[in-house]
Amino acid sequence: MGVDQFVVTGQAQAILLGIETSCDETAAAVVVRDQSGRGSIRSNVVRSQFEEHAAFGGVVPELAARAHVEWLDHIVAQAMAEADIGFDRLDAIAATAGPGLIGGVLVGLTTGKALAAAWGKPLVAVNHLEGHALTARLTDGISFPYLMLLVSGGHSQFVLVRGVGDYQRWGGTIDDALGEAFDKVAKLLSLGHPGGPAVERIAATGDEKRFRFPRPLLREARLDFSFSGLKTAVRLQAEALAPLTDADVADIAAGFQASVTDIVATRARQALARFKAEMPGVAPQLVVAGGVAANRAIASALGVAAAEAGARLVVPPIGLCTDNGAMVAWAGAERLALGARDGLDAMARPRWPLDASDMRLIDHAA
Ligand code: KG4
Ligand code: ZN
Repeated sequence: MGVDQFVVTGQAQAILLGIETSCDETAAAVVVRDQSGRGSIRSNVVRSQFEEHAAFGGVVPELAARAHVEWLDHIVAQAMAEADIGFDRLDAIAATAGPGLIGGVLVGLTTGKALAAAWGKPLVAVNHLEGHALTARLTDGISFPYLMLLVSGGHSQFVLVRGVGDYQRWGGTIDDALGEAFDKVAKLLSLGHPGGPAVERIAATGDEKRFRFPRPLLREARLDFSFSGLKTAVRLQAEALAPLTDADVADIAAGFQASVTDIVATRARQALARFKAEMPGVAPQLVVAGGVAANRAIASALGVAAAEAGARLVVPPIGLCTDNGAMVAWAGAERLALGARDGLDAMARPRWPLDASDMRLIDHAA
């Protein structure tokens, strides 16, 4: 299928409300897509549930769903107020329908359906991963095709983005997601939750050479990740040294950070090499999404890898790399412009890979 098929011109401007509740962020945003396909954010309100989950060292699905129920109405009202528009002015309502924690997804999708029914607006049921995948078109106007590296608390994958609804998964994790690995390492080093920022901060003060942790799967050519063996190696090292001094904690964090940075940069090099081999003559582009994009060591190693490959690297502002409503509104707008609409019977889905057949717009619109 040709990429040009998805270049749409002459569409009317569309204003969408986007709702995101698939993990531990309750989020809503209003986004405008103009006639030429450019996007702008009118409001983007995110409430992170740090406090609800802090004591547990990870996201507790039941608590997450309850917090979404409690907060979503307020967050939607705030997004509408900040955008300074009424519901009657919306062209559609987009809500994440999966993948994610099913209780939370149900809260957001049901709210989206209720608003769509009450105001007589179309509903677009958005795949959360598509929200991440298309964000760089909202922020940087990037054109297809490009490679996306999604590294968050729930996902670690390379996806070739050929068009709206047209994705090819090149690799994923066979166990933990990268953000999850950061969170687990933080927990076993007693650094709190969410762990990524804490591990990064402490790692910067440590000696990365004191411990050399494994780089699982890296000798294999496939573009997959595996982090659970690395996490176990970190745990065994921590247990061997216990009780840990501050220097031990910093050195272990630094060794872990060095290992994951090496893994991600190596995989990015391999993925960009595949991009160039499969699409000669197409300028290689790499987009990073997900909360781990905030990690400076990883982002700068990706910058080096992209530069070596002669590739453009796009890292959207971190508030749009982590979960948010603007990415959902934007993905909804891109789909809406191509004729996609969903019925009020749209299902909430715990699993929904980007390359599922019902992501294709041709099927979708039929
Ligand atoms: O995309 P995100 O906000 O939520 C989802 O998981 O969907 O990503 C959150 C993840 C958490 O696992 C968090 O520890 C990680 O991103 N993270 C980081 C950093 N900031 C957030 N990991 C490494 N370094 C960071 N600076
Ligand atoms: Zn996400």
